[in-house]
Amino acid sequence: MLTPTIKPGLEGVVAAETRLSHVDGQVGELIIGGYPLETLAPNVTFEAAVYLLWHDALPDSAALAEFRQALAARRELPPATLALLREAAARKVTAMDALRMAAASLSLNTATTGDPRQDALTAVASFPTIVAAFWRLRQGQEPIAPNPALGHAANYLAMLTGQRPSEAQARGLETYLNTVIDHGLNASTFTARVIISTQSDMISAVVGALGALKGPLHGGAPGPALDMVFEIGQLEQAEAYLRDKLERGERLMGFGHRIYKVRDPRAEVLAAAAEQFYHADGNMALYRLAQGVERAAVRLLAEYKPGRNLQTNVEFYTALLLHGLGLPGELFTPTFAIGRVGGWTAHCFEQQQTGRLIRPAAAYIGERNRRLLN
Ligand code: ACO
Repeated sequence: MLTPTIKPGLEGVVAAETRLSHVDGQVGELIIGGYPLETLAPNVTFEAAVYLLWHDALPDSAALAEFRQALAARRELPPATLALLREAAARKVTAMDALRMAAASLSLNTATTGDPRQDALTAVASFPTIVAAFWRLRQGQEPIAPNPALGHAANYLAMLTGQRPSEAQARGLETYLNTVIDHGLNASTFTARVIISTQSDMISAVVGALGALKGPLHGGAPGPALDMVFEIGQLEQAEAYLRDKLERGERLMGFGHRIYKVRDPRAEVLAAAAEQFYHADGNMALYRLAQGVERAAVRLLAEYKPGRNLQTNVEFYTALLLHGLGLPGELFTPTFAIGRVGGWTAHCFEQQQTGRLIRPAAAYIGERNRRLLN
Protein backbone atom coordinates (compact mmCIF):
# COMPACT_ATOMS: atom_id res chain seq x y z
CA MET A 1 0.00 0.00 0.00
CA LEU A 2 1.36 3.46 -0.93
CA THR A 3 2.02 5.75 2.03
CA PRO A 4 0.19 9.02 1.30
CA THR A 5 2.16 12.26 1.49
CA ILE A 6 0.58 14.39 4.17
CA LYS A 7 0.74 18.18 4.04
CA PRO A 8 -0.27 19.33 7.51
CA GLY A 9 -2.01 22.67 7.19
CA LEU A 10 -2.10 22.09 3.40
CA GLU A 11 1.06 24.20 3.07
CA GLY A 12 2.16 24.42 -0.54
CA VAL A 13 -0.95 22.59 -1.78
CA VAL A 14 -2.50 24.34 -4.79
CA ALA A 15 -6.24 23.69 -4.51
CA ALA A 16 -7.72 26.22 -6.94
CA GLU A 17 -7.07 28.48 -9.89
CA THR A 18 -7.96 32.12 -9.33
CA ARG A 19 -8.03 35.43 -11.20
CA LEU A 20 -8.65 37.32 -7.99
CA SER A 21 -5.28 37.81 -6.31
CA HIS A 22 -1.70 36.59 -6.35
CA VAL A 23 0.70 36.64 -3.40
CA ASP A 24 4.47 36.35 -3.93
CA GLY A 25 6.13 36.24 -0.53
CA GLN A 26 9.68 36.21 -1.85
CA VAL A 27 9.54 39.49 -3.73
CA GLY A 28 6.71 41.04 -1.68
CA GLU A 29 4.19 41.28 -4.48
CA LEU A 30 0.40 41.31 -4.19
CA ILE A 31 -1.72 41.52 -7.34
CA ILE A 32 -5.46 42.19 -7.01
CA GLY A 33 -7.56 41.47 -10.09
CA GLY A 34 -4.55 42.12 -12.33
CA TYR A 35 -3.44 45.37 -10.66
CA PRO A 36 -0.47 45.75 -8.31
CA LEU A 37 -1.89 46.44 -4.84
CA GLU A 38 -0.09 49.77 -4.56
CA THR A 39 -1.71 50.99 -7.81
CA LEU A 40 -5.21 49.82 -6.97
CA ALA A 41 -5.77 50.27 -3.23
CA PRO A 42 -5.23 54.03 -2.79
CA ASN A 43 -6.91 55.00 -6.05
CA VAL A 44 -10.31 53.31 -6.37
CA THR A 45 -13.42 53.20 -4.24
CA PHE A 46 -14.19 50.04 -2.30
CA GLU A 47 -17.27 49.51 -4.45
CA ALA A 48 -15.04 49.58 -7.57
CA ALA A 49 -12.64 47.06 -6.00
CA VAL A 50 -15.52 44.67 -5.22
CA TYR A 51 -16.86 45.12 -8.76
CA LEU A 52 -13.40 44.34 -10.15
CA LEU A 53 -13.26 41.05 -8.26
CA TRP A 54 -16.81 40.09 -9.23
CA HIS A 55 -16.53 41.05 -12.92
CA ASP A 56 -12.79 40.81 -13.65
CA ALA A 57 -12.78 44.44 -14.84
CA LEU A 58 -13.08 47.84 -13.19
CA PRO A 59 -16.50 49.45 -13.79
CA ASP A 60 -17.02 52.47 -16.06
CA SER A 61 -18.77 55.38 -14.38
CA ALA A 62 -22.30 54.22 -15.26
CA ALA A 63 -21.66 50.67 -14.02
CA LEU A 64 -20.05 52.01 -10.85
CA ALA A 65 -23.01 54.30 -10.12
CA GLU A 66 -25.40 51.38 -10.60
CA PHE A 67 -23.31 49.07 -8.40
CA ARG A 68 -23.03 51.72 -5.66
CA GLN A 69 -26.77 52.19 -5.74
CA ALA A 70 -27.44 48.45 -5.56
CA LEU A 71 -25.23 48.18 -2.48
CA ALA A 72 -26.59 51.33 -0.82
CA ALA A 73 -30.15 50.02 -1.26
CA ARG A 74 -29.29 46.93 0.78
CA ARG A 75 -27.71 48.54 3.83
CA GLU A 76 -30.78 48.46 6.07
CA LEU A 77 -30.92 45.47 8.43
CA PRO A 78 -33.97 43.23 8.93
CA PRO A 79 -35.74 44.09 12.25
CA ALA A 80 -34.85 40.64 13.60
CA THR A 81 -31.15 41.31 12.96
CA LEU A 82 -31.37 44.57 14.93
CA ALA A 83 -33.17 42.78 17.75
CA LEU A 84 -30.42 40.16 17.78
CA LEU A 85 -27.76 42.89 17.94
CA ARG A 86 -29.55 44.49 20.91
CA GLU A 87 -29.47 41.17 22.72
CA ALA A 88 -25.81 40.59 21.79
CA ALA A 89 -24.87 44.09 23.03
CA ALA A 90 -26.76 43.57 26.29
CA ARG A 91 -24.77 40.37 26.82
CA LYS A 92 -21.54 42.16 25.88
CA VAL A 93 -20.46 39.56 23.32
CA THR A 94 -17.45 40.48 21.21
CA ALA A 95 -17.99 42.51 18.04
CA MET A 96 -16.74 39.62 15.92
CA ASP A 97 -19.25 37.20 17.50
CA ALA A 98 -22.04 39.75 17.01
CA LEU A 99 -21.09 40.09 13.34
CA ARG A 100 -21.08 36.32 12.86
CA MET A 101 -24.49 35.88 14.50
CA ALA A 102 -26.04 38.84 12.69
CA ALA A 103 -24.60 37.79 9.32
CA ALA A 104 -26.39 34.44 9.68
CA SER A 105 -29.68 36.28 10.19
CA LEU A 106 -29.29 38.12 6.85
CA SER A 107 -31.27 35.25 5.37
CA LEU A 108 -34.26 37.16 6.80
CA ASN A 109 -33.53 40.13 4.51
CA THR A 110 -36.23 40.20 1.85
CA ALA A 111 -33.55 40.91 -0.79
CA THR A 112 -31.81 37.67 0.23
CA THR A 113 -33.30 35.20 -2.16
CA GLY A 114 -30.85 32.34 -2.40
CA ASP A 115 -29.58 33.86 -5.66
CA PRO A 116 -25.81 34.08 -5.09
CA ARG A 117 -25.41 37.56 -6.68
CA GLN A 118 -28.26 39.07 -4.66
CA ASP A 119 -27.07 37.45 -1.45
CA ALA A 120 -23.49 38.59 -2.05
CA LEU A 121 -24.74 42.17 -2.47
CA THR A 122 -26.71 41.89 0.76
CA ALA A 123 -23.69 40.53 2.65
CA VAL A 124 -21.24 43.19 1.40
CA ALA A 125 -23.77 45.99 1.94
CA SER A 126 -24.87 44.88 5.42
CA PHE A 127 -21.57 44.18 7.20
CA PRO A 128 -20.81 47.85 8.02
CA THR A 129 -24.38 48.43 9.25
CA ILE A 130 -24.14 45.38 11.52
CA VAL A 131 -20.78 46.37 13.02
CA ALA A 132 -21.70 50.02 13.51
CA ALA A 133 -25.15 49.25 14.97
CA PHE A 134 -23.70 46.70 17.37
CA TRP A 135 -20.92 48.98 18.49
CA ARG A 136 -23.26 51.85 19.23
CA LEU A 137 -25.64 49.55 21.12
CA ARG A 138 -22.69 48.26 23.17
CA GLN A 139 -21.89 51.88 24.10
CA GLY A 140 -25.51 52.44 25.16
CA GLN A 141 -26.29 54.50 22.04
CA GLU A 142 -28.96 54.01 19.40
CA PRO A 143 -27.85 52.80 15.93
CA ILE A 144 -27.63 55.40 13.17
CA ALA A 145 -29.52 54.65 9.97
CA PRO A 146 -27.36 54.20 6.86
CA ASN A 147 -27.11 57.18 4.52
CA PRO A 148 -27.50 56.05 0.88
CA ALA A 149 -25.89 59.29 -0.34
CA LEU A 150 -22.53 58.30 1.19
CA GLY A 151 -20.07 55.78 -0.24
CA HIS A 152 -19.55 52.44 1.47
CA ALA A 153 -16.53 53.48 3.57
CA ALA A 154 -17.77 56.98 4.46
CA ASN A 155 -21.16 55.60 5.46
CA TYR A 156 -19.54 53.05 7.81
CA LEU A 157 -17.67 55.82 9.63
CA ALA A 158 -20.81 57.99 9.71
CA MET A 159 -22.86 55.15 11.22
CA LEU A 160 -20.19 54.64 13.90
CA THR A 161 -19.66 58.24 14.94
CA GLY A 162 -22.79 60.09 13.89
CA GLN A 163 -20.62 62.53 11.95
CA ARG A 164 -19.89 62.80 8.29
CA PRO A 165 -16.20 61.82 7.91
CA SER A 166 -13.67 64.06 6.20
CA GLU A 167 -12.51 63.09 2.72
CA ALA A 168 -9.13 62.07 4.15
CA GLN A 169 -10.82 59.77 6.68
CA ALA A 170 -13.05 58.14 4.06
CA ARG A 171 -10.07 57.72 1.70
CA GLY A 172 -7.94 56.22 4.50
CA LEU A 173 -10.59 53.62 5.30
CA GLU A 174 -11.24 52.90 1.63
CA THR A 175 -7.52 52.25 1.07
CA TYR A 176 -7.50 49.89 4.05
CA LEU A 177 -10.60 47.96 2.84
CA ASN A 178 -9.10 47.62 -0.66
CA THR A 179 -5.78 46.48 0.80
CA VAL A 180 -7.32 43.56 2.67
CA ILE A 181 -10.03 42.68 0.13
CA ASP A 182 -8.29 39.51 -1.03
CA HIS A 183 -5.12 37.58 -0.29
CA GLY A 184 -4.88 34.26 -2.12
CA LEU A 185 -6.29 31.12 -0.59
CA ASN A 186 -6.11 32.24 3.03
CA ALA A 187 -7.98 30.27 5.71
CA SER A 188 -11.28 32.17 5.64
CA THR A 189 -11.41 32.32 1.85
CA PHE A 190 -10.70 28.61 1.66
CA THR A 191 -13.50 28.03 4.18
CA ALA A 192 -15.93 30.02 2.03
CA ARG A 193 -14.92 28.04 -1.07
CA VAL A 194 -15.34 24.70 0.73
CA ILE A 195 -18.84 25.66 1.87
CA ILE A 196 -20.02 26.96 -1.51
CA SER A 197 -18.47 23.91 -3.24
CA THR A 198 -21.12 21.74 -1.55
CA GLN A 199 -23.76 23.84 -3.41
CA SER A 200 -24.61 25.51 -0.14
CA ASP A 201 -25.63 29.20 -0.20
CA MET A 202 -23.67 32.48 -0.10
CA ILE A 203 -24.82 33.52 3.38
CA SER A 204 -23.65 30.18 4.80
CA ALA A 205 -20.29 30.65 3.07
CA VAL A 206 -19.66 34.12 4.51
CA VAL A 207 -20.78 33.05 7.98
CA GLY A 208 -18.30 30.15 7.88
CA ALA A 209 -15.59 32.49 6.64
CA LEU A 210 -16.27 34.88 9.53
CA GLY A 211 -15.77 31.99 11.94
CA ALA A 212 -12.38 31.27 10.36
CA LEU A 213 -11.32 34.92 10.31
CA LYS A 214 -12.08 35.36 13.99
CA GLY A 215 -9.21 33.11 15.13
CA PRO A 216 -6.06 34.91 16.33
CA LEU A 217 -3.88 33.06 13.82
CA HIS A 218 -5.81 34.65 10.96
CA GLY A 219 -7.84 37.79 11.62
CA GLY A 220 -4.99 38.46 13.94
CA ALA A 221 -4.73 40.99 16.64
CA PRO A 222 -3.46 44.31 15.32
CA GLY A 223 -4.49 45.67 18.75
CA PRO A 224 -1.35 44.34 20.49
CA ALA A 225 0.90 45.94 17.84
CA LEU A 226 -0.60 49.31 18.70
CA ASP A 227 -0.43 48.61 22.44
CA MET A 228 3.29 48.05 21.99
CA VAL A 229 3.76 51.47 20.36
CA PHE A 230 1.75 53.12 23.14
CA GLU A 231 3.71 51.28 25.84
CA ILE A 232 6.97 52.46 24.27
CA GLY A 233 5.60 56.00 24.34
CA GLN A 234 8.86 57.73 23.38
CA LEU A 235 11.29 56.78 20.68
CA GLU A 236 14.27 56.79 23.08
CA GLN A 237 12.60 53.92 24.97
CA ALA A 238 12.10 51.77 21.87
CA GLU A 239 15.42 49.92 21.80
CA ALA A 240 15.42 48.98 25.51
CA TYR A 241 11.74 47.96 25.42
CA LEU A 242 12.08 45.79 22.31
CA ARG A 243 15.37 44.25 23.45
CA ASP A 244 13.78 43.32 26.74
CA LYS A 245 10.91 41.57 24.96
CA LEU A 246 13.26 39.66 22.66
CA GLU A 247 15.55 38.69 25.58
CA ARG A 248 12.49 37.18 27.26
CA GLY A 249 11.73 35.20 24.08
CA GLU A 250 8.56 37.18 23.34
CA ARG A 251 7.35 37.95 19.82
CA LEU A 252 7.06 41.45 18.49
CA MET A 253 3.51 41.94 17.28
CA GLY A 254 3.20 43.23 13.73
CA PHE A 255 6.39 41.55 12.51
CA GLY A 256 7.05 38.26 10.71
CA HIS A 257 4.83 36.39 8.26
CA ARG A 258 4.46 32.80 7.06
CA ILE A 259 4.58 33.78 3.39
CA TYR A 260 6.28 37.18 3.17
CA LYS A 261 10.03 37.08 3.66
CA VAL A 262 10.34 40.75 2.71
CA ARG A 263 8.22 43.70 3.88
CA ASP A 264 4.54 42.82 3.40
CA PRO A 265 3.38 45.00 0.46
CA ARG A 266 0.20 45.70 2.39
CA ALA A 267 2.30 47.29 5.15
CA GLU A 268 3.82 49.51 2.45
CA VAL A 269 0.41 50.70 1.22
CA LEU A 270 -1.06 51.13 4.69
CA ALA A 271 2.01 53.02 5.94
CA ALA A 272 1.62 55.46 3.03
CA ALA A 273 -2.12 55.80 3.72
CA ALA A 274 -1.49 56.30 7.44
CA GLU A 275 1.17 58.93 6.74
CA GLN A 276 -1.17 60.82 4.42
CA PHE A 277 -3.99 60.58 6.89
CA TYR A 278 -2.02 61.60 9.98
CA HIS A 279 -0.51 64.41 7.97
CA ALA A 280 -3.94 65.68 6.91
CA ASP A 281 -5.08 65.35 10.50
CA GLY A 282 -2.16 67.44 11.73
CA ASN A 283 -0.97 64.78 14.18
CA MET A 284 2.30 63.27 13.03
CA ALA A 285 3.76 62.45 16.46
CA LEU A 286 2.22 58.98 16.73
CA TYR A 287 3.07 58.19 13.12
CA ARG A 288 6.72 59.20 13.59
CA LEU A 289 6.92 57.17 16.79
CA ALA A 290 5.52 54.10 14.99
CA GLN A 291 8.02 54.56 12.15
CA GLY A 292 10.87 54.70 14.66
CA VAL A 293 9.57 51.63 16.50
CA GLU A 294 9.34 49.78 13.19
CA ARG A 295 12.94 50.63 12.27
CA ALA A 296 14.22 49.55 15.69
CA ALA A 297 12.16 46.34 15.64
CA VAL A 298 13.34 45.24 12.19
CA ARG A 299 16.97 45.94 13.17
CA LEU A 300 16.69 44.03 16.46
CA LEU A 301 14.84 41.11 14.86
CA ALA A 302 17.73 40.74 12.38
CA GLU A 303 20.11 40.72 15.36
CA TYR A 304 18.15 38.25 17.51
CA LYS A 305 16.78 36.04 14.72
CA PRO A 306 19.42 36.18 11.98
CA GLY A 307 18.43 34.60 8.68
CA ARG A 308 14.71 34.61 9.54
CA ASN A 309 13.91 37.71 7.47
CA LEU A 310 11.38 39.01 9.97
CA GLN A 311 9.84 42.12 8.46
CA THR A 312 6.86 44.37 9.11
CA ASN A 313 3.52 42.69 8.39
CA VAL A 314 0.08 44.09 7.55
CA GLU A 315 -1.01 44.31 11.21
CA PHE A 316 1.42 47.02 12.26
CA TYR A 317 0.12 49.80 10.03
CA THR A 318 -3.46 48.47 10.08
CA ALA A 319 -3.44 49.27 13.77
CA LEU A 320 -2.02 52.72 13.23
CA LEU A 321 -4.39 53.62 10.40
CA LEU A 322 -7.57 52.30 12.02
CA HIS A 323 -6.65 53.94 15.32
CA GLY A 324 -6.14 57.21 13.46
CA LEU A 325 -9.62 56.83 12.01
CA GLY A 326 -10.96 56.63 15.54
CA LEU A 327 -11.80 52.92 15.50
CA PRO A 328 -11.43 51.08 18.82
CA GLY A 329 -9.19 47.97 18.83
CA GLU A 330 -12.17 45.61 19.12
CA LEU A 331 -13.43 46.77 15.73
CA PHE A 332 -10.16 46.09 13.89
CA THR A 333 -11.03 42.46 13.01
CA PRO A 334 -14.71 43.17 12.11
CA THR A 335 -13.45 46.00 9.90
CA PHE A 336 -11.06 43.53 8.25
CA ALA A 337 -14.16 41.38 7.56
CA ILE A 338 -15.96 44.38 6.01
CA GLY A 339 -13.16 44.46 3.42
CA ARG A 340 -12.54 40.73 3.03
CA VAL A 341 -16.21 39.86 2.39
CA GLY A 342 -15.62 41.33 -1.10
CA GLY A 343 -12.99 38.65 -1.69
CA TRP A 344 -14.97 35.82 -0.06
CA THR A 345 -17.98 36.41 -2.28
CA ALA A 346 -15.81 36.69 -5.43
CA HIS A 347 -14.09 33.39 -4.57
CA CYS A 348 -17.49 31.79 -4.11
CA PHE A 349 -18.50 32.84 -7.64
CA GLU A 350 -15.22 31.39 -8.98
CA GLN A 351 -15.70 28.16 -7.07
CA GLN A 352 -19.30 27.81 -8.28
CA GLN A 353 -18.04 28.04 -11.84
CA THR A 354 -15.79 25.01 -11.33
CA GLY A 355 -18.74 22.98 -10.01
CA ARG A 356 -16.22 20.82 -8.15
CA LEU A 357 -16.79 19.67 -4.55
CA ILE A 358 -13.71 20.34 -2.36
CA ARG A 359 -13.08 17.16 -0.51
CA PRO A 360 -9.51 16.26 0.50
CA ALA A 361 -8.55 12.97 2.13
CA ALA A 362 -7.06 12.02 5.49
CA ALA A 363 -4.58 9.25 6.28
CA TYR A 364 -6.13 6.90 8.83
CA ILE A 365 -3.77 6.29 11.77
CA GLY A 366 -6.28 4.74 14.20
CA GLU A 367 -6.72 1.19 15.41
CA ARG A 368 -8.18 -1.53 13.21
CA ASN A 369 -10.18 -4.60 14.11
CA ARG A 370 -11.26 -3.45 17.56
CA ARG A 371 -13.86 -5.78 19.03
CA LEU A 372 -16.95 -4.96 21.02
CA LEU A 373 -16.89 -6.72 24.38
CA ASN A 374 -20.40 -8.16 24.08
N1 ACO B 1 9.04 38.42 16.98
C1 ACO B 1 10.08 37.69 17.41
N2 ACO B 1 10.44 36.52 16.88
C2 ACO B 1 9.71 36.05 15.86
C3 ACO B 1 8.62 36.76 15.33
C4 ACO B 1 8.29 38.01 15.94
N3 ACO B 1 7.27 38.74 15.51
N4 ACO B 1 8.08 36.07 14.32
C5 ACO B 1 8.80 34.93 14.19
N5 ACO B 1 9.79 34.92 15.13
C6 ACO B 1 10.82 33.92 15.31
C7 ACO B 1 10.28 32.68 15.99
O1 ACO B 1 10.41 32.78 17.39
C8 ACO B 1 11.18 31.62 15.42
O2 ACO B 1 12.42 31.69 16.07
P1 ACO B 1 13.24 30.34 16.42
O3 ACO B 1 13.45 29.63 15.12
O4 ACO B 1 14.48 30.87 17.05
O5 ACO B 1 12.37 29.56 17.34
C9 ACO B 1 11.40 32.07 13.98
O6 ACO B 1 11.23 33.49 14.02
C10 ACO B 1 10.42 31.48 12.97
O7 ACO B 1 9.11 31.61 13.50
P2 ACO B 1 7.85 30.75 13.03
O8 ACO B 1 6.81 30.80 14.11
O9 ACO B 1 8.27 29.43 12.52
O10 ACO B 1 7.40 31.58 11.83
P3 ACO B 1 5.97 31.50 11.18
O11 ACO B 1 6.17 31.70 9.76
O12 ACO B 1 5.20 30.30 11.58
O13 ACO B 1 5.28 32.74 11.91
C11 ACO B 1 3.90 34.52 12.43
C12 ACO B 1 4.54 33.70 11.31
C13 ACO B 1 2.92 33.64 13.23
C14 ACO B 1 3.12 35.68 11.83
C15 ACO B 1 5.01 35.06 13.37
O14 ACO B 1 5.95 35.83 12.65
C16 ACO B 1 4.47 35.86 14.54
O15 ACO B 1 4.06 35.28 15.55
N6 ACO B 1 4.43 37.24 14.44
C17 ACO B 1 3.92 38.06 15.49
C18 ACO B 1 2.38 38.09 15.47
C19 ACO B 1 1.82 38.85 14.30
O16 ACO B 1 2.28 39.93 13.94
N7 ACO B 1 0.78 38.27 13.66
C20 ACO B 1 0.11 38.85 12.49
C21 ACO B 1 0.60 38.21 11.23
S1 ACO B 1 -0.09 38.98 9.76
C22 ACO B 1 -1.54 38.15 9.46
O17 ACO B 1 -1.67 37.01 9.77
C23 ACO B 1 -2.74 38.83 8.81
